[in-house]
Parts: sequence; structure tokens; C-alpha cells
Amino acid sequence: MNSSAALTAFQALLQPQQMLCAPVDMQPYLIDWRKRFFGKALTVLLPSNTAELAQIVRICAEFQVALVPQGGNTGLCGGATPDQSGQQVVVSLKRMNQIRAIDLINQTMTVEAGCILQTIQAAAAEHNLLFPLSLGAEGSCCIGGNLATNAGGTNVLRYGNARDLCLGLEVVTARGEVWNGLRGLRKDNTGYDLRDLFIGSEGTLGIISAAVLKLYPMPLCQWTSLVATPSITATIELLNLFKQKATSLLTGFEMMTAESLNLIEKQFPQMANPLGENPPITVLVELSDHESEAHARNLIEEILAEALDLGIASNAIIASSIAQANTFWQMREHITLAQAQEGANLKHDITIPLSALDEFIATTDALLRKRFPKVRIINFGHLGDGNLHYNVAAPAGSDSTIFNQANEKIVHDLIYEMVERFGGSISAEHGIGQLKINNLRAHKGAVAHDLMQAIKTALDPQNILNPNKVLSIKSA
Ligand code: FAD
Ligand code: MLT
Ligand code: ZN
Repeated sequence: MNSSAALTAFQALLQPQQMLCAPVDMQPYLIDWRKRFFGKALTVLLPSNTAELAQIVRICAEFQVALVPQGGNTGLCGGATPDQSGQQVVVSLKRMNQIRAIDLINQTMTVEAGCILQTIQAAAAEHNLLFPLSLGAEGSCCIGGNLATNAGGTNVLRYGNARDLCLGLEVVTARGEVWNGLRGLRKDNTGYDLRDLFIGSEGTLGIISAAVLKLYPMPLCQWTSLVATPSITATIELLNLFKQKATSLLTGFEMMTAESLNLIEKQFPQMANPLGENPPITVLVELSDHESEAHARNLIEEILAEALDLGIASNAIIASSIAQANTFWQMREHITLAQAQEGANLKHDITIPLSALDEFIATTDALLRKRFPKVRIINFGHLGDGNLHYNVAAPAGSDSTIFNQANEKIVHDLIYEMVERFGGSISAEHGIGQLKINNLRAHKGAVAHDLMQAIKTALDPQNILNPNKVLSIKSA
């Protein structure tokens, strides 16, 4: 490694404002959103186009300097935070934020990696088109980060995750070459799927510089409802009733436990549950319709009436305006912020087959409570996808930092053991990053893990792309 030669080469390549070296300037890039991971860096670089990005990677390859790609820095497992060595370079894609093209006939949009997700949604909406990826961090996360983590969010039920919404990629490889795979094709069976290899690889195989995204017709209207249910079993029955009756009109099905909404009431009292006292489970259901307002309204009313008759719902309200629907969504999206304000917590972003979810929760809750009486379990998530954000917080009144330091591994291991027993995944949508790196081999199995390592070594033999994220590999 020759860091000083690399710094000299970066200086020759970039404008001073594209290269941050002062600690105060670098600081926001060195800590993750949850304040769970802290790092140090040689410098933070902000390329403004693919050619500059490729040149940066070539310099890193020549001088064997590791680099950490970063988008909006909203990731929840430490993937975008450099290590403690002070020898890694953070490469922020923020300045590469151009929408390169919108093809209205092909219904695609070509964007640079640093485009903010909300900007992409708004650009599509100007043409009455929908880019369906939607998540609480959409005002600051970038599409490159969304693709690198294969982000999920609240529309996966109907439109799929980031992978399903991407047709093509432009990627800078570990050698600093540019792979131009920016094709807007819905069918392309030409050998190994490189696009799918880079999506979800969390910056460890290549740096995404641009992407072709799929657009959809904008629904004519949306109806949003909050539904009280007595249990997880009832909530899953409600989901299946909506799937059966509303079919593809069902675009959102988000679950919030009383514990998670109690936290909203405490941290953001103005966002308290419009259903009144928090029932065991509150579900946010959204239907999107292309036919008429009346069609969707009648349908949601009919399904809710049946759910109340069946006893799988105990109360329900339908938003009477877009503004009220937005308040329902705000309550849901603010749970993560309410948790952050409450103090450090232990996050788990898991998927369990819906048929096993009820038993998983009952078993895991009981084991945790036996080991840690009074521990707080704050569950919510994208139930329509079987994706549960199973979060554990220290007992009320105790010091969360001390609790986490002493018990983080025990809690993770206990929960991941149950995830295995019930046939689930340790990451539904947030990825592996640093947080779950030690759990990956046991979860994937040795064969899959070795194959992943072989791919990493083939594509990045010097291990300069986001080392020690997803996989631990010794640098050459
Ligand atoms: P970053 O945090 O900057 O980076 C994430 C990872 O991608 C890192 O490993 C980084 O090295 C890599 N990376 C970034 N850009 C590139 C690139 N151009 N090329 C290669 N690698 C790159 N996630 C969900 O899936 N669903 C949710 O519902 C959801 N809700 C959230 C709500 C809140 C309030 C917050 C704070 C986060 C939420 N997240 C959610 C997590 C986060 O927003 C997503 O993981 C998002 O996709 C990260 O995008 P980013 O641009 O911030 O990426
Ligand atoms: C969400 O669904 O709100 C996010 O994935 C964030 C989280 O898990 O806290
Ligand atoms: Zn989520």
C-alpha cells in the first residue's frame, strides 16, 4: 500500500472540493445512520462522473488502497463505514446525480448512482409514471446504494425489490474498467447475469455508477386503511383475504405491534395511532387502482367488512384524504426514528415463511424473555413479504449501551438460531455489511459461502473493494 502516492494522484485528478481531508469535513461520512459504526479514512472523494470514478479506482488498484463506496449513508448494517485503520478511501457517489434519460415508450429511466430515490420517483411522476421503490429513507438514500443493498421497502409485495426494478447497470470494476450494461431490456439471456451479481453485493464486487430502471403506469388512486387485529395469526389471515380479493391492487401491507406504536406515542405524540388505544397489531393496508376511485373504495370497504365479520379485524378506518393517508404512512415510517431517539437497540431484519411466522415469534419472544426478563421487543415490518423487523431493546430504565455491549452477541445468536429453525433468512432487505458478517457462513452454509468467496476473489483479487463487508477475506 502506498497511501501518500495515492493521495498525490487523487489531488492531480480532482478539484479541491471533490477531495475532503479535514477531519471535520470527513466526519459525516465516517459514521453510520444508527451511530453503531465509526471509522477513519485517508480521504473522502466525490467524483462527478464515471470517468473520474474509474480513474479513482485505477489509482486505488495501482497503490493497493482500499475504498468504500457510499451513497446516502442510510444503510443499517455498517456497509458504508470505513474501518478504523485510517487507510481506506471513502468514495461518495453523491455528485453523480444526473438523470441521463427517460424513455417514455420503453418505460425506463437511466440514472446515475448518486440520484436520490425521491428525485427519481418525482421525475417519473412528472410523466404520470411510477418508480415503485419506496422506503423511509427515500429523501436521502441514493439509487446506487439501493441497488447495492437490493433494498426492499413498502411496495415489494406488488412490484418487487430493487433487483426487480432494475434492467441494466453501468459498473466500475476493481481494475477501474467500465462495464456498460445499460440496456433497457426485459429479456436478455446472454450467459451469466452480471447485473444480478452486482445488485446486492454491497460495494464488494464493483461500484455501480448508473442504472436503467423500470417504470410503471401511475395508479389512478390509492386507498389507505389502518386495521386493528388481535394477533399475528389473524393478521396473516387478513393478508390472505386481501390477496385473494384485491389481487394485484394490494400494494402495501405493513404490520406494527402495540410496542412499536407505544414508542411512536412517546417520541412523536402528534403521530399517535388514529385507531385510538394501540391494539395488539395495527396493519396499514394500501390498495392502488387503475379503474376508478369508487371501484377501490368499494373493494376495500367490502374486504374490511368481511374481516370484521370473521373476527380477524376488530376495528378499521379508511383515510378520507391523501393528507390523512400520509399521516398513516408517517406513523409507520417514523418507528425507526422513534427507536433511534429512544436509544440504541439491537436490530434484526429477517424473513420467515408466513406459515411459520406466528410460531417463530411466540418461541423467540419466550426464549428472549426467559433469558432477559423485561427486555423490550419492538416488532414491525413488511408483513406482506414475511419481512419482520424484530428489534430488541434494553429493559426500560436500564442503560441501553451497557445492555447492548454485554448481550448483543447472545441476542443475535438466539434470534438467528430460531431463524434457521423456522426456515428464514437473517437479512430480508438491509444486507450483511459489518453487522452480520460473522453470521453469514453459518446461515448460507459452507458451499454457498465458499462460492461467494471465489466470486469475490475472481472479481477483486487485491480485495480493495469494501473489504471486510459481507465476507472476511485477507488482503493480498
Ligand atoms: P449507503 O448506506 O451509502 O450504502 C449501503 C451499502 O451500499 C454499502 O455497503 C455501500 O458500500 C454500498 N454502496 C453504496 N453506493 C454504492 C454504489 N454506487 N456502488 C456500489 N456499492 C454502493 N432499507 C430497506 O431495504 N427497506 C426499508 O424499508 C428501509 N427503510 C429505512 C428507513 C430508514 C429511516 C433508514 C435510515 C434506512 C432504511 N433502510 C431501508 C436502509 C437503507 O435506506 C437502504 O439500505 C438503502 O438502500 C441504502 O442506500 P444508501 O444510498 O443510503 O446506501
Ligand atoms: C423499515 O421498514 O422501516 C426499515 O427497514 C427500517 C428499519 O428496519 O428500522
Ligand atoms: Zn424495512
